[in-house]
Amino acid sequence: MKKILDLLKEEVTEAFVKAGYDEKYGMVTISNRPDLCQYQCNGAMAAAKQYKKAPIMIANEVVAILEKSDSFKEISAINPGFINIILSDSYISKYVNQMREEGHFGYTLEGEPYTIVVDYGGPNVAKPLHVGHLRAAAIGEAVKRIGKFVGHNMIGDVHLGDWGLQMGLIITELKKRQPDLPYFDPDFTGEYPEEAPFTISELEEIYPYASGYSKKHPDYLEEARNATFRLQKGERGYAALWKHICNVSISDLKKNYDRLNIHFELWKGESDAESYIPDLVKYLKDEGYAHYSDGALVVDVKEEGDTKEIPPCMILKSDGSALYNTTDLGTIVERVKLFNPKAIKYVIDKRQDLYFQQVFRCARKAKLVGDDVELTFLGFGTMNGKDGKPFKTRDGGVMRLETMINDVTEAVYQKIIENRDMNEEEARAIAEKVGVAAIKYGDLSNQASKDYIFDLERFTSFEGNTGPYILYTIVRIKSILAKYKELHGELDTELKILPAFSESETALMLQITKFNEMIDVAFKENAPYKVCQFVYELANAFNRFYHENKIVTEEDKDKQASWIALCQYTLDMLNQCIDILAIEAPDRM
Ligand code: ARG
Repeated sequence: MKKILDLLKEEVTEAFVKAGYDEKYGMVTISNRPDLCQYQCNGAMAAAKQYKKAPIMIANEVVAILEKSDSFKEISAINPGFINIILSDSYISKYVNQMREEGHFGYTLEGEPYTIVVDYGGPNVAKPLHVGHLRAAAIGEAVKRIGKFVGHNMIGDVHLGDWGLQMGLIITELKKRQPDLPYFDPDFTGEYPEEAPFTISELEEIYPYASGYSKKHPDYLEEARNATFRLQKGERGYAALWKHICNVSISDLKKNYDRLNIHFELWKGESDAESYIPDLVKYLKDEGYAHYSDGALVVDVKEEGDTKEIPPCMILKSDGSALYNTTDLGTIVERVKLFNPKAIKYVIDKRQDLYFQQVFRCARKAKLVGDDVELTFLGFGTMNGKDGKPFKTRDGGVMRLETMINDVTEAVYQKIIENRDMNEEEARAIAEKVGVAAIKYGDLSNQASKDYIFDLERFTSFEGNTGPYILYTIVRIKSILAKYKELHGELDTELKILPAFSESETALMLQITKFNEMIDVAFKENAPYKVCQFVYELANAFNRFYHENKIVTEEDKDKQASWIALCQYTLDMLNQCIDILAIEAPDRM
């Protein structure tokens, strides 16, 4: 359905035209002085120049026309020529009822839906997830769900780091430790065992060990390079071992992502690009996009007007091996071929910004994607500790994501058990949901590109702009509705919401009407923090309304029924918002 801003623009524009002015002056915006009005139009100021008239005169003429409309509780011309708008309560409640009738919280997609691939997560096989992986996962999942809500076909791809030297290192170390495994026997022609020759914890020990060892032992490094090469050339035993490494890793990664309520449509990885690389390289050479420079194959991606040096995009190293760039370009080719997306969005640490500029430019220059395909890099900032430096463990190591989730859920558990009469099992289950919400909301409520400070106290607080506060509000509404049901039976979902009886109720309804506008902006700007901002304001508006009214004991039955309908709709909207943020609410807390 039409957004309020658009409806107002139509009505105000019509008034401008009626008063003899151009239609372009009827733009309406959300008021930047909410203490004075809800919406405003500044068109009279601009019109003044064209019509050589005092802006206040124009504003007055337009207001004189609009005053007759029952859309407004108050509409006034304010010096030097602003038009301040306050909607009538019946207008607002009517709009809210219409939203309820039409469904989807009053949002309709303009234009056709299309396919968008979101590349997020980006974990590396055989390495545990660390806190740095939280952001990619949380933001990417929300970006994907925002797109899905507005109606597009969203495909989330985890894009595993499952190729390259780390694989060769693990294989080399395994060979050293267990040389008798059939994978290393070139004459072995039988079936390889189904069971992996290591557990996830062994794998997580092997990789850093091998990596450290290779730095001090050039021969070992050489062997690992060679193993990587042989793997990439498809050697049977190595390929089988690689499959084990991926499988063991992926089931562990899934466990962690599930806990965070993050779900990928695709579990593809860098290795999937491999089969596209030979043709890609040939194409880049044949079409003259790539050339050799110091033995390496590169594509120049400098452009006129660059203010900083953008180095060429390297396709092959001088030893002929592919790089991170090559897999990303191969992946673009694959995505275009399999999904024909209208956009590919990359949710990745912003330190990879320059790298992606090179990749995108190369993809465009070589026409790997059509001109109408949008390639977006959504670079996120770092999660820092209270000292302003990247978040670390107490002894300065990289903190595992699992450890952080455990710490936070434990802190929430302590709070719950101290304040509530609840059994251990229930308290644990609630703490898990609230803890995960605290972490994710703490992350998502910041503009993605900015760094932020991980603050356990603040994130787990039940007050302020936090996940627990939002969940607490949801739980509160659930309990109001349950109490109402106990006293009066099932609530009638067809019931209309009446025009507001008080100012706090107006404010709550007005906030509700802004959902469709908000989600549109959140989608266009790839900005989950806008959803957080909205949901926080919605929770605040609800709590104010709640504190000013005795909903369950109200004696005027019509009033009460309307309030209950409003509670229910607020709850539905809060639930929709947290679902978009991939956060789950408990039934009580
Ligand atoms: N695995 C990479 C890393 O750890 C991130 C992958 C990001 N996605 C991509 N398409 N390059 O840095």
